[in-house]
Amino acid sequence: MANRGNFSGRIGFILAAAGSAVGLGNIWRFPYLAGENGGAIFLLVYLGCILLLCYPVMVGEIAIGRAANSDAYGSYNKLGGKKWGYLGLFGIIAGILILSFYNVVAGWAFGYFLHISFGDLLNLQDFGGFFGAFVNDILDVSSAHGLANSNLIFSLFFMVFTAIIVSQGIQKGIEASNKIMMPSLYLILLGIIVYSLTLPNAFSGVKFYLVPDFSELKIQTVVDGLKQAFFSLSLGMGALITYGSYLSKKENITSSAAVISIADTSVAFFSGLMVFPLVHFLAFKLNINPTEIGTSGPPLIFVVLPQIFHEMGPILGRIIGGSFFLLVCFAALTSTISLLEVPVAYLVDQKKYNRKGVVWAMALIIFVCGLPSMVSQGMMPALNKLGFYRGQDFLTFISDMSDICLTVGGCLMSIFISRRWGIHNMDAELANGNNNYMTSRVRKFLHITLKWIAPILLGFLSIVIILEKFFGIENLI
Ligand code: PHE
Repeated sequence: MANRGNFSGRIGFILAAAGSAVGLGNIWRFPYLAGENGGAIFLLVYLGCILLLCYPVMVGEIAIGRAANSDAYGSYNKLGGKKWGYLGLFGIIAGILILSFYNVVAGWAFGYFLHISFGDLLNLQDFGGFFGAFVNDILDVSSAHGLANSNLIFSLFFMVFTAIIVSQGIQKGIEASNKIMMPSLYLILLGIIVYSLTLPNAFSGVKFYLVPDFSELKIQTVVDGLKQAFFSLSLGMGALITYGSYLSKKENITSSAAVISIADTSVAFFSGLMVFPLVHFLAFKLNINPTEIGTSGPPLIFVVLPQIFHEMGPILGRIIGGSFFLLVCFAALTSTISLLEVPVAYLVDQKKYNRKGVVWAMALIIFVCGLPSMVSQGMMPALNKLGFYRGQDFLTFISDMSDICLTVGGCLMSIFISRRWGIHNMDAELANGNNNYMTSRVRKFLHITLKWIAPILLGFLSIVIILEKFFGIENLI
């Protein structure tokens, strides 16, 4: 196990783990979920989930990985026996599922970055029509808007970027790329926020986002908040076990996990702070009520935002719009590398394969697994409306299934720590690099949450999510 690779230190680990966490979930999914669930109230519920459930699960995962010094399967296997090893495998499969559809959406963002920066996408009138055509015809290599329009190629490129980075190993690939992309991402995000706050009507967007309306609190808000928090922090599938296994015993896990959670939550928060003022600006420009702008679902960043960039005028629109999609690409790439690393680490650690070979083979397999999601946006009617899944498309189906895997994975992980590995063993691991841990309040908090709150609440919510997905939540309550 000597040369599995490792992070050079605390900063490298934190940036890589925060990179895994910060992704499409923060920039693409968080703002539209917040929009659908009443803005500020969603933010509050989300913060509650992070503190009460996600932070303890994150600490637990990192501790498992570092204690076992192995991949997701190897870690559970080593600390809990072969049966628990299956939980690791379940996580690895969940990671493959996530990466398969995630890479498709990342490919769209990459395509939009090119189309806005170098093509003439912003000259369009009908952005909804463009997006529909864009995701529908994945093989269209004719020159649309000054550039080829092939979704297949964009997402292939994205997978290739991911594989190049992961094949370079932990320090030279994952750590080095995160050290460039994460700070750039923050800079771009803050730059766009500052600009968007100067636009007319921006503060009505801020108000919607920040002033809670408690009458909007519903069970759906809690379910959505929890799913989103798990996905956003990359929990429940072994990404942090894998990254944790490359962390030195000298480092403090509890404080690192706090920094990672704050970094991720702040990007989600800032994304909302960027998007809502923009949406209210558009409403002002078009002289309509902001609620008339469809901010729900994926079209928010691919339809509504381009229209806003269009309103900014040709030069500014290109600069702000191009930077925005570059930001989305960076966020997605730092996550796709962590997703690819999970199965790669498994094959390198357990099967002793050569890293480079495994990276390219896995990248290809996962890319192919993503093809059904890619063609499910209209090109193949059978996958566009799944009969057994309430007429939803295949991409949504896979994304929903992975949400389920993550909360179930998190629930089982907390059971693993408290009922199998032993909370005292976790304590011993957390005391490495943190001399005050044994007498700290964090320890007490982790004990209560991992023994009782996490297993019970996550178990309950996992069941609600499964029922919701297959039967529709309206029918449950
Ligand atoms: N956290 C990532 C995001 O918010 C997605 C992700 C999930 C990455 C699980 C790794 C593991 O986009």
